[in-house]
Amino acid sequence: MISTINTMADVWEAYRHELDGVEDRVRQNLDSSVALVNTVAAQILSGGGKRVRPLLLLLSARLCGYADKEHHQLGSLVEYIHTATLLHDDVVDEADLRRGKRTARRVWGNQISILVGDYLYTRAMCRVVEFRNQGINEVLAEACKKMAEGEVLQLYYNGNPAIPENEYIKIVEHKTAGLIAAACRMGGILAEASEAQQEALFRFGQYLGIAFQVADDTLDYTANGASLGKTIGQDLRQGKATLPLLHLLKHCSEQDAHMIKDRMETRTLSSADLERILFLMNEFGSITYAMDRARAYITAAKRELDLFEDNPARRALAVSADYMITRDR
Ligand code: IPE
Ligand code: IPE
Ligand code: MG
Ligand code: MG
Repeated sequence: MISTINTMADVWEAYRHELDGVEDRVRQNLDSSVALVNTVAAQILSGGGKRVRPLLLLLSARLCGYADKEHHQLGSLVEYIHTATLLHDDVVDEADLRRGKRTARRVWGNQISILVGDYLYTRAMCRVVEFRNQGINEVLAEACKKMAEGEVLQLYYNGNPAIPENEYIKIVEHKTAGLIAAACRMGGILAEASEAQQEALFRFGQYLGIAFQVADDTLDYTANGASLGKTIGQDLRQGKATLPLLHLLKHCSEQDAHMIKDRMETRTLSSADLERILFLMNEFGSITYAMDRARAYITAAKRELDLFEDNPARRALAVSADYMITRDR
């Protein structure tokens, strides 16, 4: 283990063996007797995901002094659930690209994507109950329920350019932060941390998750498509008004707002439109506004770490917290 952890590269390096342990479990758990399930699932599971959720789970466990290896398995199961949500999300969002490659729905179709997503959800749950840990069962089941609610609430607001900001945050908290919060808390549960510590880890993950999604929604406008591995401008194209756009719509001219609403309604967005919108977002401080909001959540998250004694895992969690909003993919 390297002695100082200052950057995300240090974190990946210091915990590489742990993450390798997670990878082994990701592979081992894929054992369906239906070959097509394994083929589709393997393609997406090995597609270059960042593994942020397993990382947070294992760091949270280590933070609380966990010395065993069960966190590799639990981390892999959280990654299964995350992967299931991506398979479903790409169908709902009609996405063509994920992690720089064609989405499963483009390769195999929507039906297979949904069904293999269901498989990954349920495969994960079959393995999770083997822990015979009621706390883990409850936390993860609740997170899955919340994710579905978040996606439905998002759909409810689809095409609406006037979502109240608190409703936007509610969507994000449900669809993204719930699983990240659960991952952090489950690290604490494995380590048999105190209730107060588990709650702090949950809040830590929740703040991180909200910030992570706000950053994702900003990257949807600002990122380099090649490094992000997803299609830029996809949120607006799909009728999703996210934080930077909500800010812009409140501040831009009526004429520009009209153009934006038209593109949301007609689901057409040329690269010139996107360029214009990004220009306006910079002009009116919408990108800065969204990222400031994200940063405030990260600051709140890091305060939760004060409850814990300083150790390498705490340092790694603090660095990972910053990474959630400084990442470019
Ligand atoms: C993508 O999650 C979905 C969001 C919650 C924004 P990640 O950015 O963690 O996806 P991968 O697994 O690294 O590709
Ligand atoms: C995150 O929302 C989806 C889930 C939490 C399942 P997005 O729709 O923004 O995620 P990406 O951009 O497709 O990865
Ligand atoms: Mg999506
Ligand atoms: Mg996105």
